[in-house]
Amino acid sequence: MNRTVSVAKRVDAVVLVGGMGTRLRPLTLSAPKPMLPTAGVPFLQHLLARIAATGVTHVVLGTSYQAEVFEQYFGDGASLGLELEYVFEAEPLGTGGGIRNVADRLRGDTVLIFNGDVLSGADLGELLATHERTDADVTLYLTTVEDPRAFGCVPTDADGMVTDFLEKDPNPVTNQINAGAYVFKRWVVDSIPAGRPVSVERETFPGLLASGARVAGHVATSYWRDLGQPADFISGSADLVRGRAPSPALPGPVGEFLVLPGAHVSPEAKLSGGSAVGAGCVVGAGAVVEGSVLFDGAVVEAGAVVRRSAIGFGARVGTGALVEDSVVGDRAVVGVDVQLRCGARLWPDAVLADGSLRFSSDA
Ligand code: GTP
Repeated sequence: MNRTVSVAKRVDAVVLVGGMGTRLRPLTLSAPKPMLPTAGVPFLQHLLARIAATGVTHVVLGTSYQAEVFEQYFGDGASLGLELEYVFEAEPLGTGGGIRNVADRLRGDTVLIFNGDVLSGADLGELLATHERTDADVTLYLTTVEDPRAFGCVPTDADGMVTDFLEKDPNPVTNQINAGAYVFKRWVVDSIPAGRPVSVERETFPGLLASGARVAGHVATSYWRDLGQPADFISGSADLVRGRAPSPALPGPVGEFLVLPGAHVSPEAKLSGGSAVGAGCVVGAGAVVEGSVLFDGAVVEAGAVVRRSAIGFGARVGTGALVEDSVVGDRAVVGVDVQLRCGARLWPDAVLADGSLRFSSDA
């Protein structure tokens, strides 16, 4: 057994999946964000497969919103080589509260913790190795971004220890940001107040620094994307399909598109840009589907164009319609020749009548 795997055997993983995913509505009205189909499988499956590949086998999911669907799909985790447990929060306890709430399920002294909506190519074995080498109480996985102004920043010193947690700033001092994965020593989990909402980012981490705890940063420049917004969710799926984001759970070869069994795609349709086509979908002749996600049962009729968009379960895009940078809710209908663009969000079951919405004066 190599060293990373032998260390990983003593590690518990915790994945926070209790959020309501409001920024991804209407897709998250029918399924929690980590269960949305991303490159052919629920997003969470990509993360669980990466955890399993590291050698960690015991995983606790902190659930709240639509909690039951996780267990219905993943069961005891045996099919992924994992032992999965579920801990329910009747009232969402936030990221820190969600971690504290699973404390009695933990078995070891090292806890690998993930936000359930981050797609990353970081080597988890290296993250654990940094934690051990620095003898930190908490190690944060940090990523670098081109424009850090939209994020809180996490500066580190020459030894890689975190020196501060800074709020959003027009002139950030570093481009390192919290990438939503952490390693905690067990006592840190127990030190979070129980039974009330706690934000790990706003309360726990600054509190640890103020109390003199050792907080390390593990900076990785590998692929990273937070799938909280529709455009990122759609791009993240395409990156998985194209292999830009590595995943052991991709249900097919890496390529320009992925079509799940049971979908019917016309030989005259054009799929590209890492599009994922779910089971039972129909894509008609001359249709173009580019960089998009079609959930199971979605229909794109002949000559329709779908670009950088998500089409919900059983939704229909009519003949000649254009859907660009938009989200179409489950079972909704985009009528013949309708145009939907620029961040539009069509709610489930809504019906846009044929020709009823356009972005140009063309007949
Ligand atoms: P938005 O409502 O769009 O902000 O999404 P979200 O609810 O998922 O919140 P956010 O993106 O900040 O959450 C980051 C991660 O933490 C996600 O994987 C959430 O599922 C999870 N999370 C957020 N709040 C809670 C909570 O109260 N309890 C648990 N167990 N997980 C949470």
